[in-house]
Amino acid sequence: MPLTAALEEVGAGIDRAFDALLPVPEDARARLYEAMRYAAIGGGKRIRPLLVVAACDLFKVDRARAMRVALAVECIHVYSLIHDDLPSMDDDDLRRGKLTLHRAFEESTAILAGDSLHALAFEILADEATHEDPFVRADLVVELARAAGPAGMAGGQMMDLKAGEMGLDLPAVTRLQQLKTGALIGWCVEAGAIMGRAPVDGRTGLRGYARDVGLAFQIADDLIDHEGQEEKAGKRVGKDRAAGKQTFVSLLGPERARRQADLLVEQAIAHLHGFGEDAELLRAVARFAVERDH
Ligand code: IPE
Ligand code: IPE
Ligand code: MG
Ligand code: MG
Ligand code: MG
Repeated sequence: MPLTAALEEVGAGIDRAFDALLPVPEDARARLYEAMRYAAIGGGKRIRPLLVVAACDLFKVDRARAMRVALAVECIHVYSLIHDDLPSMDDDDLRRGKLTLHRAFEESTAILAGDSLHALAFEILADEATHEDPFVRADLVVELARAAGPAGMAGGQMMDLKAGEMGLDLPAVTRLQQLKTGALIGWCVEAGAIMGRAPVDGRTGLRGYARDVGLAFQIADDLIDHEGQEEKAGKRVGKDRAAGKQTFVSLLGPERARRQADLLVEQAIAHLHGFGEDAELLRAVARFAVERDH
């Protein structure tokens, strides 16, 4: 299936799943659910869900189950964006082409919507409908907790907040990006292997792929911030420089950063050599990670 069709199909599935999962209750929590729906439904590239589905396909995992795993990672991702945009963090007013959640609602509601999506991810994974084997479910949960916590995304966000004042060099920025963005992207691919009960020694290539794609994806994000267009990106640009953040673009300049991203994608694809045609979608996602303008 071509990439655009796959992104559309997975995106529509994620929208339907959030819609079914988040009916607005008739009590004082209504505004919280409305906020979660505002942030989660109808936006974003859904590249992490697609990565989950593509990795699950390699191991012939049932699509409905793969979509639950995909939904879980999108919950974490949306929560991370809500909190990333808060005044105490990046202080942004535009996300996915509309007002950020704390601007459309209140800051308190936005914080709670993020908290709730965070919790929801683990609830989805721990449910029997995700996999009949409790060891598989526990593995998904513990790996996602690692990828999202202080040794993963949240830790990377902390480094990112300090990136202005600390004067990071290239190895430090690489580590920051691997935690901030790479860990969650790595989990998406790993989750396919966990769901498919792939032998542990067969996962090395996939890990290499995920590491390189994760880094390339964040370099592309930094390039969009540096030279992209707000209308296409659906978010403000030029923010990294204004905040004095070190990124691959600030350290290498845009040309070398782009070359680095292209190289990482080639490398990512090379890691999949053992998988043949089954991995075509993963290869396409890798290319899209850097060719995108949004
Ligand atoms: C943006 O992620 C934040 C990063 C971790 C780079 P995406 O570029 O995947 O954002 P959406 O989901 O498409 O809005
Ligand atoms: C955000 O990185 C990464 C996470 C949300 C974990 P950025 O701050 O660069 O993302 P954008 O540019 O606001 O989407
Ligand atoms: Mg940020
Ligand atoms: Mg941001
Ligand atoms: Mg950015």
